[in-house]
Amino acid sequence: MTVEHDVKSIDLAPGGRFRIEWAEQDMPVLRQIRERFENEKPLKGIRIAACLHVTTETANLVWTLQAGGADVVLTASNPLSTQDDVAASLVANFEIPVFAIKGEDDKTYYEHLQRALDHKPHITMDDGADLVSELHKGRPELINNIIGGTEETTTGVIRLRAMAADKALRFPVIAVNDSMTKHMFDNRYGTGQSTIDGIIRATNLLFAGRTVVVGGYGWCSRGIASRAKGLGANVIVTEVDPLKGLEAVMDGFRVMPMLEAAKVGDIFVTSTGDLNVIDGHHMEVMKTGAVVCNSGHFNSEINIPALKAMAVGEPRKVRPFVDQFMMKDGRKINLLAEGRLVNLSAAEGHPASVMDMSFANQALAAEYVVLHHKELANQVYTVPEEIDHDIARLKLEAMGVSIDKLTEEQIKYLNQWQEGT
Ligand SMILES: NC(=O)c1ccc[n+]([C@@H]2O[C@H](COP(=O)([O-])OP(=O)(O)OC[C@H]3O[C@@H](n4cnc5c(N)ncnc54)[C@H](O)[C@@H]3O)[C@@H](O)[C@H]2O)c1
Repeated sequence: MTVEHDVKSIDLAPGGRFRIEWAEQDMPVLRQIRERFENEKPLKGIRIAACLHVTTETANLVWTLQAGGADVVLTASNPLSTQDDVAASLVANFEIPVFAIKGEDDKTYYEHLQRALDHKPHITMDDGADLVSELHKGRPELINNIIGGTEETTTGVIRLRAMAADKALRFPVIAVNDSMTKHMFDNRYGTGQSTIDGIIRATNLLFAGRTVVVGGYGWCSRGIASRAKGLGANVIVTEVDPLKGLEAVMDGFRVMPMLEAAKVGDIFVTSTGDLNVIDGHHMEVMKTGAVVCNSGHFNSEINIPALKAMAVGEPRKVRPFVDQFMMKDGRKINLLAEGRLVNLSAAEGHPASVMDMSFANQALAAEYVVLHHKELANQVYTVPEEIDHDIARLKLEAMGVSIDKLTEEQIKYLNQWQEGT
């Protein structure tokens, strides 16, 4: 009997299965956790509602949770990021209920979240905190079942910390994003590579010689800026934090306000977690043919309502992920992937190798919640440092890389204060 689902077409399952297996080959840390989970069943009897990008890597995570004994249901954390073949395969081959269709409208997106909540989870697993937010706003009666949650991304952690500060958060949440083995690799190398991949797949533009404007110089945008530079682009960075701005200057980038950058940029990409980083007055001075996109969590980094208001008529869909807006003065501005995460909408999201570590954190965070929820308050916690270090060690081992060990003499030296010059 097929499990409950709402996916594009179950017939897509065979292709999805191959791609899930392909990702699995590059997820050795998660594989080791899955093998241990299969034996120990640390999540036995635990219902998990996961609201994550439905990708091949996520499929490997939910498979791991299932191997640990959990009863998992999956819904999308973004209306455009679902890989329909993966959703189909999870239902058909793994018997995991999935509610996710690429391109679903906002109404369906929220209905899907509700269906995941109907599962009466003990643990929520979020990417952007939509599930936690829906639960607190609309389904508070379900909160008593919940022992804790986990959160994947920067924006979600910011929202959850705001909830905790307001004393609105009613269960503990582990901020997976705050693990070093998550944001140092996933946000920087994963978003860096896959964002460029998304822009190239959507436009087929050459980066060499073009001026690329990167909004922000945090973990994600640093990765994007360095990859664009590597492809031969002239990269300009915009920032609001003087330290990050300074770091970008010392890393060899031009740094200036968005209004200045807007006049000279060819390709614009934001990844800040902020609102209207590219606003109407910026788009007013952009060159014709400018390409504008976002790789931050929400589609609010580019002021799309302002762009629509500035444009004459409806945009033309000139390529699958390119909407071309005609300005009153004849300029054309190209918006990619409706301003949503371009790396997940127009490409496949992060490569499996980095998601291996992010999702190892997710799996171990879920186990940690089961083991320790009674000791945790309604706060946002980081993944314990030992877990973070263990994941890094396992990843290095899997890559065949060894490192040195502190000697007894060095441990003693590093823990004393008497010895100096
Ligand atoms: N595309 C993906 O797959 C992916 C992956 C991980 C994280 N994210 C999302 O990307 C966003 C950034 O995450 P991060 O980990 O890099 O965060 P971060 O906090 O490390 O960096 C954000 C940077 O943006 C800067 N900033 C804020 N407002 C700005 C503005 N108006 N103009 C210019 N700079 C501004 C901040 O000063 C900061 O340096 C978040 O929304 C996060 O959830 C996306």
